[in-house]
Amino acid sequence: MWKHSVENMESFWDSQAQMIPWMTPYKTVWEKPLADDFVGTWFDQGKLNAAHVCVDRWVQNHGDETALIWVSEEDTDSSPKTRVFSYRELSTYISQVANFLHACGVKKGTRVGIWLPMIPEVIVTQLACAKIGGVAVTVFSGFSATNAEQRFLNAGCEVIITADGGRRRGKEFLLRETLSKEFLENPSISKVITYNNISRSCKTTEKDLPWHENVSSMPTECPAEPMDSEDPLFLLYTSGTTGKPKGILHTTAGYLLYAMSTMKHVWGINGLLSPQLPHEREVWLNTADVGWITGHSYLTYAPFALGTTVVLYEGAPTYPAPDRIFQLIDRYKVTHFYTCPTLLRQLSSDTASYTKKYSFDSLKVLGTVGEPIDPTTWRWFFEHVGKSRCPIVDTYWQTETGGYLLSPFAGTTTLKPGSCGGPFLSIDPKIFREDGSEASPGEKGLLCISKPWPGIMRSIFQDHDRFTREYLKRFPGHYFTGDEAYKDVDGDIWIIGRADDVIKVSGHRFGTAELEATVNEFPDVVESAAIAIRDEIKGHAIIMFVVGKNSIQSNDIKDHMKKKLGSVAVPDRVYFVPDLPKTRSGKIVRRLLRNILLKEQISETSTLINPELVELLYQSVRDE
Ligand code: PRX
Repeated sequence: MWKHSVENMESFWDSQAQMIPWMTPYKTVWEKPLADDFVGTWFDQGKLNAAHVCVDRWVQNHGDETALIWVSEEDTDSSPKTRVFSYRELSTYISQVANFLHACGVKKGTRVGIWLPMIPEVIVTQLACAKIGGVAVTVFSGFSATNAEQRFLNAGCEVIITADGGRRRGKEFLLRETLSKEFLENPSISKVITYNNISRSCKTTEKDLPWHENVSSMPTECPAEPMDSEDPLFLLYTSGTTGKPKGILHTTAGYLLYAMSTMKHVWGINGLLSPQLPHEREVWLNTADVGWITGHSYLTYAPFALGTTVVLYEGAPTYPAPDRIFQLIDRYKVTHFYTCPTLLRQLSSDTASYTKKYSFDSLKVLGTVGEPIDPTTWRWFFEHVGKSRCPIVDTYWQTETGGYLLSPFAGTTTLKPGSCGGPFLSIDPKIFREDGSEASPGEKGLLCISKPWPGIMRSIFQDHDRFTREYLKRFPGHYFTGDEAYKDVDGDIWIIGRADDVIKVSGHRFGTAELEATVNEFPDVVESAAIAIRDEIKGHAIIMFVVGKNSIQSNDIKDHMKKKLGSVAVPDRVYFVPDLPKTRSGKIVRRLLRNILLKEQISETSTLINPELVELLYQSVRDE
């Protein structure tokens, strides 16, 4: 199937596209790009609506099937706190929210900022935007207001949807109240809609509107706007190698189809497309936050578009008890469980014994995403959760790719702990040496993809040049992932990690420049350098080297990072140093800082403008 799909890309995607209920059929599957732009045009002249594809289309024949089960962090066996929606109920709710958004001025192309915790409303709002053609710009609710505001302003959002606050690890956090006066007064923001989630009263302005009264008074039907295949569906900001996050643009048909097709084939899901009712409903549990791409593709869009039952958990997967997520698997008879290596490393060290308490009989397929998984954790997952029965799909992809590039196919391909297996259908991966020649089996190189696929990002919002420069120019005619990898003799791919200045901490993505820019904002910081070192649980940990003045303390830096970027960005250690090692052109030599941290041999200091610094750096690290 893979060979056929690569050799006949268009006919393969033509057959896949039959999964979508088109409002108007497309004329061509793929049109080559005119310029040297790689992506091309997908499903030209086709019209569809993502909310219709995901939810409305199931209402007529499967309206009573369960679409979404939301579980509160406060839920216990004796005092349940859940919300359950059938496909019909979800469709009605989406229509009401869409009607309200429409009344607030949202129409085709309007960008809508979404800053909501993990409650059903986050998914409902994303799909409500899609229903009337709005472009969702969702920001992780763990990010600070400054971060959210920057992204919303960069995206040109006109309407913002947020909540009074959310719950995580037994504590409440505030959202609406933390938005700044300057942001609220910005003329480009016309309305701020607040969902009352934790019953916290907020000061309001004339732009504020409460969710509850407004949404419930709206009509329960809303026509789905026919969207062109290449109309934007959402923008999602992610970190790159510069200090400025980039707004990754995904469009409607190609993205949606790619998310659906990857989920269907990799996990072996039929959903309601070819239902074997009533016994074979697939129950999907994904621990990702909706604020990241894994939450977009494999929580909001594909699982509903295929017609699975989605379990959404409000809080941290290990709260209130370390085995919380296991409890949910048995309680809801989860069949497909998707999570990240950081959580598994935590669970395997804290809760190994807990797994015996659970039958996990319902589970069929397990999956991981976001960072490499080490073979020891993989085996623990396989034996203790999958009871040596369930395949694990180690899915490799990126915010930019929309869906999986590499993954085993559950029940079909051979599993190798630590490898992401081979390419998805129609994906043609290549490992290149720096000079553009192809690496031999076993040889480390740079991972590229040689053919476009429907889910590839279309652009960086308002910076198309940056898109072509960062992804398409390095190896002309290929998409460059930025990752290092090697292919083994069977053609399976092993990801080593990022080849650029991007760090993954617990699966979250940060650019070193972004971390440094945040630290440098702090008064009394002259400059800084961020280094990643391996961490047993988090994959990588952040270490900051800071040139400070006055009596600045490491907790000042840590608190500032927490406030600005969230707790996952808090550095493990902060070293105050007299200066940073630099080349003559002023570039910080991070490699040398890492050598010093890891007590490695330093071979070359002649390119440094300040070689005398090396001994002082050693001393700072030793003193700490
Ligand atoms: O380095 C790769 C790593 O995560 C990066 C993409 O990060 P982000 O856009 O935040 O998307 C994360 C979820 C798709 C990649 O460039 N990565 C992602 N999945 C894997 C992985 N590294 C190894 N194995 C994976 N399965």
